[in-house]
Amino acid sequence: MNKMQTLPHGLLALSLLLLSLVSPAASCTAQEETSLLQFLDELSPDSSNNLAASWRDGTSCCAWEGVTCNGNGTVTDLLLASRGLEGYISASLVNLTGMVRLNLSHNSLSGGLPLELMSSGSIVVLDVSFNRLDGKLQEFPSSIPYHPLKVLNISNNFFAGEFPSTVWEKKRGLIEINASHKSFSGSIPASFCISSPSSFAVLDLCYNLFSGNIPTRIGECFALRVLKVGYNSISGALPEELFNATLLEHLSFHKNGLEGELNGEHIVKLRDLAILDLGQNNFIGEIPDSIHQLKKLEELRLDYNNMSGFLPSALGNCTSLRIINLRSNNFGGELSNLNFSSLPNLEMLDLMSNNLTGEIPESIYSCSNLTTLQLSSNKFYGQVSPRIGTMKALSFLSLANNAFENITNALHILENSRKITTLLLGFNFNGEILDLSNNELTGPLPVWIHSLNFLYFLDISNNKLTGDLPTTLMEMPMLKSEKDAEHSDPRLFQLPDSYEGPSLQYGIISTLPAVLNLGNNYLTGAIPSEVGQLKLLTMLNLSFNSLSRNIPQELCNLTNLQVIDLSNNHLTGSIPPALSNLHFLDIFDISNNDLEGAIPAGLHELAYGNPKLCGPLLANNCPTAQAPSVSTNSIEQTTGKIIFAAAFGAFFFVGVLYDQILVSRFFGYSCSRFHQGVTV
Ligand SMILES: *[C@@H]1O[C@H](CO)[C@@H](O)[C@H](O)[C@H]1NC(C)=O
Ligand SMILES: *[C@@H]1O[C@H](CO)[C@@H](O)[C@H](O)[C@H]1NC(C)=O
Ligand SMILES: *[C@@H]1O[C@H](CO)[C@@H](O)[C@H](O)[C@H]1NC(C)=O
Ligand SMILES: *[C@@H]1O[C@H](CO)[C@@H](O)[C@H](O)[C@H]1NC(C)=O
Ligand SMILES: *[C@@H]1O[C@H](CO)[C@@H](O)[C@H](O)[C@H]1NC(C)=O
Ligand SMILES: *[C@@H]1O[C@H](CO)[C@@H](O)[C@H](O)[C@H]1NC(C)=O
Ligand SMILES: *[C@@H]1O[C@H](CO)[C@@H](O)[C@H](O)[C@H]1NC(C)=O
Ligand SMILES: *[C@@H]1O[C@H](CO)[C@@H](O)[C@H](O)[C@H]1NC(C)=O
Ligand SMILES: *[C@@H]1O[C@H](CO)[C@@H](O)[C@H](O)[C@H]1NC(C)=O
Ligand SMILES: *[C@@H]1O[C@H](CO)[C@@H](O)[C@H](O)[C@H]1NC(C)=O
Repeated sequence: MNKMQTLPHGLLALSLLLLSLVSPAASCTAQEETSLLQFLDELSPDSSNNLAASWRDGTSCCAWEGVTCNGNGTVTDLLLASRGLEGYISASLVNLTGMVRLNLSHNSLSGGLPLELMSSGSIVVLDVSFNRLDGKLQEFPSSIPYHPLKVLNISNNFFAGEFPSTVWEKKRGLIEINASHKSFSGSIPASFCISSPSSFAVLDLCYNLFSGNIPTRIGECFALRVLKVGYNSISGALPEELFNATLLEHLSFHKNGLEGELNGEHIVKLRDLAILDLGQNNFIGEIPDSIHQLKKLEELRLDYNNMSGFLPSALGNCTSLRIINLRSNNFGGELSNLNFSSLPNLEMLDLMSNNLTGEIPESIYSCSNLTTLQLSSNKFYGQVSPRIGTMKALSFLSLANNAFENITNALHILENSRKITTLLLGFNFNGEILDLSNNELTGPLPVWIHSLNFLYFLDISNNKLTGDLPTTLMEMPMLKSEKDAEHSDPRLFQLPDSYEGPSLQYGIISTLPAVLNLGNNYLTGAIPSEVGQLKLLTMLNLSFNSLSRNIPQELCNLTNLQVIDLSNNHLTGSIPPALSNLHFLDIFDISNNDLEGAIPAGLHELAYGNPKLCGPLLANNCPTAQAPSVSTNSIEQTTGKIIFAAAFGAFFFVGVLYDQILVSRFFGYSCSRFHQGVTV
């Protein structure tokens, strides 16, 4: 063939192609147009107005919004994700016999998923995730010979019943199935890979109601890379056959009812494993030594099981590790078994609630990427090394409920850890663990407490703090200024992902759980008027102290407040009327004080135990003439400023004392507030 001869043909073909792309002339067939219009008909008219404007008779359907054709004018793609569509998915789409991709995700479509689409002879990628589809997925009629489907995403719908099992036997090139989120029950089908053992790579069945054992035939999926079955009710052991799927990179059965041991011979067959998540099951036994062969392991999550034994030193050879979460097991021995120097990528180490002992090993301080160090509720002792100040990434530190000594030392060291957002050093008065485990933390409050620039969650409750409320506390930058908060790295606001409780996006500043909790101590004096500087505060708890004088007027400036607990003090005077302007205030507890006058309208207060208060819900009705009284605390403020030279008592703990209980309780309503505010 001669180049000169082929060139004009090439050009011709090219221009024909271009022409077909722009010109309505290379139009889709009448049948395709009819199918699309039938599809439009089944949508609710209000939701499809915009679409209908573009999908007009007389124009080629190749030019319609969301529709893509190939050079021959055959419809290949219908991509209508996030269009606000309501109504039903019409089976007529099956008449688009050249359609390869159908993406209707993130709409509000309801009704069933037409079987015709699942068994279509052309569709390769089908994504109907995030809709309101319901009903049962049907099995295929055996007459249908060939299914090109490779990717199926039916996650986040309201399907119910058992997952079809014969469907998969017909699909030769299947690659991914995503059926996560609240749909299916019954057992996991055994037959996923019968027809596609060398292509099937991703299976996501998280958040369903699957029960029964892990089917052994899943091990026949030799190409499987991702297997996520978290948040179901699967029971039994990990079958030996599972480990035949040796290409697995992500294996997760988080929160099921699995039991048995982690077999060292089996697990090392998964040489590519990067994520192993078996948290919240009933596994027992030790972490096998052979784990060091998993060189690609990045996340090891075995939290909330019943595993025991020492942490194998071999873990130090898994040099890719970013996350180790062994929370709430029965691991024992000394942490110094493990040489952390070889884990430079470590970002999170959560060993909370185990039986570990000894001092914090020096090698841990070389983990310069560590952001979360959660060691609470163990039997660690000794002093925190000054080297902790060199861990520049550290933002969450919990040492609560151990036997550490010398808080002065620890806090002075932390002066250099400027990224600290959450500091948990307290003793947990949880009852069950009140025995030997208190930290012997003594010494005065460092005046530089406000120089912990990112600290926004400070809980020193249930201790023996004495003296006045120090004004330094009112200088904490993260509680003070929205500007400081806005300009900092949003990741700093995220609680570690091992934290339990409703999930929230803390990156959004309005949901920052800024907390000052000094409840149940021996604090005296007035509430400083400087409290009015803590603009971002969402929770202020000063209950169960011996605070006196007025509630400062400045409290009314704290417009983010959701909780004010001033109960069980000796506060006097009247309640500042402007408090009723705090629109987010859910809890306002002033019970058991010595307050007087009328309660401002619009407060959902708890006010019993104040004999001089009056109001509709109290025994004391206000005299009709009495208006809510005006604050008289300006004299108090001046006195306050003079008095508040920071003097702290002999015992000082910085910490979240009930750790999760408080946090999740607090986030509980912070969450509902957030939803009220943001969702439509
Ligand atoms: C497909 O098109 C044919 C012929 O127009 C029609 O009879 C059939 O009902 C259509 N199928 C669906 C599922 O709408
Ligand atoms: C469907 O569209 C959404 C939104 O564009 C996209 O996130 C998703 O990945 C698409 N699905 C597939 C399977 O490509
Ligand atoms: C649905 O799942 C597929 C495969 O797992 C994925 O590619 C796609 O992005 C998902 N769609 C959405 C909207 O997340
Ligand atoms: C499955 O889809 C969900 C959204 O519904 C998504 O969050 C998840 O990442 C997907 N799974 C995989 C393995 O892609
Ligand atoms: C799969 O695993 C089982 C048990 O470990 C083994 O007996 C069998 O030979 C393996 N099958 C293949 C095909 O490797
Ligand atoms: C945990 O395992 C120990 C044996 O190591 C056993 O005695 C104990 O009952 C188990 N606890 C639970 C809650 O299963
Ligand atoms: C820990 O490992 C580092 C290098 O990875 C080595 O220099 C150091 O000696 C080891 N420490 C112990 C106590 O084995
Ligand atoms: C915790 O470890 C100690 C040894 O340090 C041991 O005597 C004790 O039995 C362990 N407790 C549990 C519950 O395993
Ligand atoms: C406590 O820490 C301080 C400051 O680092 C140090 O001066 C003091 O000696 C320590 N106390 C004890 C008992 O080790
Ligand atoms: C404030 O702290 C006290 C003491 O810890 C606690 O009892 C009380 O429940 C807290 N108030 C609120 C509203 O959480």
